[in-house]
Amino acid sequence: MSSWGNNIKISIFGESHGNGIGVVIDGLPSGERLNLDEIYLQMSRRAPGNDKAATPRLEKDMPEMLSGMLNDTTTGAPLCAVIKNTNIRSQDYGNMLKHPRPSHADYTGYVRYNGFNDIRGGGHFSGRLTAPLVFAGAVCRQILEKKGIKIAAHISSIGNIEDEMFNGTDISDELMERLSKATFGLIDQSCEYKMRSLIEECRMSQDSIGGTIECAVVGMPVGAGSPMFNGIENVISSIIFGIPAVKGIEFGSGFEGTKLRGSQNNDEFYYDSGVVRTRTNNHGGILGGISSGMPIIFRTAIKPTPSISMKQRTVDLDSKTNSEIEIQGRHDPCIVVRAVPVIESATAVAIINILSEVHKL
Ligand SMILES: Cc1cc2nc3c(=O)[nH]c(=O)nc-3n(C[C@H](O)[C@H](O)[C@H](O)COP(=O)(O)O)c2cc1C
Repeated sequence: MSSWGNNIKISIFGESHGNGIGVVIDGLPSGERLNLDEIYLQMSRRAPGNDKAATPRLEKDMPEMLSGMLNDTTTGAPLCAVIKNTNIRSQDYGNMLKHPRPSHADYTGYVRYNGFNDIRGGGHFSGRLTAPLVFAGAVCRQILEKKGIKIAAHISSIGNIEDEMFNGTDISDELMERLSKATFGLIDQSCEYKMRSLIEECRMSQDSIGGTIECAVVGMPVGAGSPMFNGIENVISSIIFGIPAVKGIEFGSGFEGTKLRGSQNNDEFYYDSGVVRTRTNNHGGILGGISSGMPIIFRTAIKPTPSISMKQRTVDLDSKTNSEIEIQGRHDPCIVVRAVPVIESATAVAIINILSEVHKL
């Protein structure tokens, strides 16, 4: 389904090369004044062509608000934003109808929808569908910021080049502010050159590369979330896996934590001016599905861009024979860079839903 959320529900519609894409956000509180420039800034961080590591495909990505907003203020009615599709080159997708791209959704979509799905530009499976998600997230994060909750992410790795990780007990406002506006967000900015060189090397060899994104939520009140099947991990994972190319997620010390002893992985409590905190943050701000008040921290795995221009083997669905494909078109050699604001946005939609559930909004 392309709808998500119980309290504040988003429904994303459109196909990459159709007339347009967009989102309906239902359940938003009324009377929230929105800064439209901030929304456009978030959308431009995701849009192609704004960073030299991204695809040169230029899309304007300017949302048009059809309902739910008057004088830049939410009315309480469903907020609908539409983004027109421009700069389309559908001819690049001609032979994918019968030659599915390896690791893209061409084959599975074709079977699932009996060949009726719009395959042009990846159709409804395209990374472009994350533009309306960023719009929704940009709205939600403004509401959250007024409650003192900040969300920011950074490129934690590209291939095997790693950025520094968040210090889970001490994340400064300055760092959150800088990352939440960056187009190539890094904690240790000295990694940028190496990462960009690796991306460029992949582009030049007609290949692509994946990486990870680390996201932090700071200012989360203690006691939000639910146990078992509706915990904060469940809710965040559920929306994050809606982002194309996401293949994994880990919270706190995650898989590395499995190599530790309990005595090393446990986060001891202490009082800090009357507030319960933990001395370390291996739990990533979540215990039993419920927020501890420490920063929520998780990392997401993003696979290498499936569409690469080097020749690959595939099948011919018409003749039912083995075949080859050479993919044309403009594709990112690395999705990670543009996916950073998408992860932040999806997190904002998740957090606003979690807080609405326990009336902490
Ligand atoms: C921001 C963003 C941009 C993307 N751009 C491309 C692209 O240019 N070419 C491509 O083949 N896949 C791209 N993808 C990934 C595909 O949409 C995705 O791999 C495909 O739909 C299959 O889904 P899955 O990888 O989640 O299984 C992008 C994803 C995101 C989040």
